[in-house]
Amino acid sequence: MSLEFDVLIMGSGAAGLSLALHLAPSARVAVLAKGELSEGSTFYAQGGISAVLDADDSFEAHIADTIDAGAGLCDPDTVRYTVENGPKVIAWLIERGVPFTREKLDDGSEAYHLTREGGHSARRVVHAADATGRAIETTLLDRARAEANITLLERHIAIDLITGQKLGLRGNRCHGAYVLDRDAGRVLSIKARFVVLATGGAGKAYLYTSNPDASTGDGIAMAWRAGCRVANMEFVQFHPTCLYHPEAKSFLLTEALRGEGARLLRPDGTRFMDDFDARGELAPRDIVARAIDHEMKRLGAESMFLDISHRPADFIQSHFPTVYARCLEYGYDLTREPVPVVPAAHYTCGGVVTDHHGRTDLEGLYAIGETAFTGLHGANRMASNSLLECLVFSVAACEDIIRRLPGSKPPPELPDWDESRVVDSDEMVVISHNWDELRRFMWDYVGIVRSTKRMERAKHRVDLLAQEIDDYYGHFKVSNDLIELRNLTQVADMIIRCARRRKESRGLHYTLDYPRPDDGREPLNTVLVPKNFAALHGHPHWR
Ligand code: FAD
Ligand code: SIN
Repeated sequence: MSLEFDVLIMGSGAAGLSLALHLAPSARVAVLAKGELSEGSTFYAQGGISAVLDADDSFEAHIADTIDAGAGLCDPDTVRYTVENGPKVIAWLIERGVPFTREKLDDGSEAYHLTREGGHSARRVVHAADATGRAIETTLLDRARAEANITLLERHIAIDLITGQKLGLRGNRCHGAYVLDRDAGRVLSIKARFVVLATGGAGKAYLYTSNPDASTGDGIAMAWRAGCRVANMEFVQFHPTCLYHPEAKSFLLTEALRGEGARLLRPDGTRFMDDFDARGELAPRDIVARAIDHEMKRLGAESMFLDISHRPADFIQSHFPTVYARCLEYGYDLTREPVPVVPAAHYTCGGVVTDHHGRTDLEGLYAIGETAFTGLHGANRMASNSLLECLVFSVAACEDIIRRLPGSKPPPELPDWDESRVVDSDEMVVISHNWDELRRFMWDYVGIVRSTKRMERAKHRVDLLAQEIDDYYGHFKVSNDLIELRNLTQVADMIIRCARRRKESRGLHYTLDYPRPDDGREPLNTVLVPKNFAALHGHPHWR
């Protein structure tokens, strides 16, 4: 079965939904979600979105903080573009109805409450209490449901992109994708003039992660297989403070807690962040996560502790209602006691290389949101800059698509998915075993602290897994788990390859064998280039 749209957007998070809403007046759009529509990282975002909204703040300060956190690898043009568009996208969200938290000022007037997070030199994070992502996701989803031009396809997982090269056509470009309808159990071919990857990050490559199950790096793997460059995958951000509890599944304790005064403590109740950075608990995340990891290993402790109990109870309950309630479920009262915390994989700074319009190397294919590498985050993303990037680049991609849509050709006929050679798998254990093994060796060998030897071990293991999964993929019917495992293995391989290439420690990449940044030369991005790149794309626009 085949469907056709002007634009096929893979992903219903902040990036995908905002793009769909911008496009809806001018184009017929399909939005895919591989699980439930609201199930992606966006829904779980807590702290908020950074933007210059206070008269005492400035674009220059936001730019300088972002570049400082990025440890020499941010693209200054991308940073400026993103920061300067911040206030506009927040205004757009407010017009759509996102209920950001407001506060009463001394003169009796009201304003949006701005919180603070690590690396920010000013209060510039607008938020909806501590459930900002839920407010954004549900508001945008309601809007998208009301648009006649938007078709929402829930529980539809994209398997692979369809390109001119794969079809044997002259002129390589993206024409659509093969998509598994999980409930019907059949593979659709979806044609589109433009295809957009908004598939989120790849936190599930690690044993402990704040990310939901959807974050398996599918877009990054699909783009790579279609011949696009992928960059900076070594920069995996570990969030310093996830609740340490066997049943909490890495529940996040927002950095805004530290922004509002929460302290990090050793098990004996002493503070330690001042020993690591003058900014203490509000140092950028790479520094805080490494400090926690260091103290846990040094003391043989299972966790460190986060304590905000010195702030008034009503302040804690009103500013952090979600976190307060979840901690209580696990037996911790934030208003009275410290809670145990550990770091967990949180954000993929690298991704599919794009230009300022979200265009990838493959004609007709865009990437936006966490899937993309725009150059904004450099070697370490500053808190709350991610949702900002999703929103700003959805506008940029929309403008480019709308400009190109009238001159675009309809896609060609697409062949049906070939299922003639595959049978149902009778060995689900292979998938679950490999999934567990992958996530564990990534955590142990390519985690917060790396070494050349550990990374070599990881490379050896990922090569074996990749071979086994390729073989499995060729023989059995595709399923959601198999698609995700195949993608996750390719993304893990890219993380390891990027990490092994970087012979220094910088930002989120820390290796014992090169513990300092290489100050002897200009810092460079790690760009992975597919083997047949020049043949696929003619003359590339190298950046
Ligand atoms: P997501 O919101 O992750 O959405 C991905 C979408 O792609 C989903 O709809 C999924 O179903 C779909 N998808 C994936 N693969 C496929 C496929 N193969 N086929 C079809 N569909 C597919 N950032 C901030 O700026 N501020 C915060 O306060 C903040 N807090 C966070 C808290 C948590 C717990 C987490 C995990 C992240 C947080 N982040 C925060 C990061 C931020 O939430 C994410 O980077 C951002 O939401 C990513 O949005 P996205 O639209 O790119 O992807
Ligand atoms: C948090 O609320 O701590 C997460 C913020 C982010 O990841 O940007």
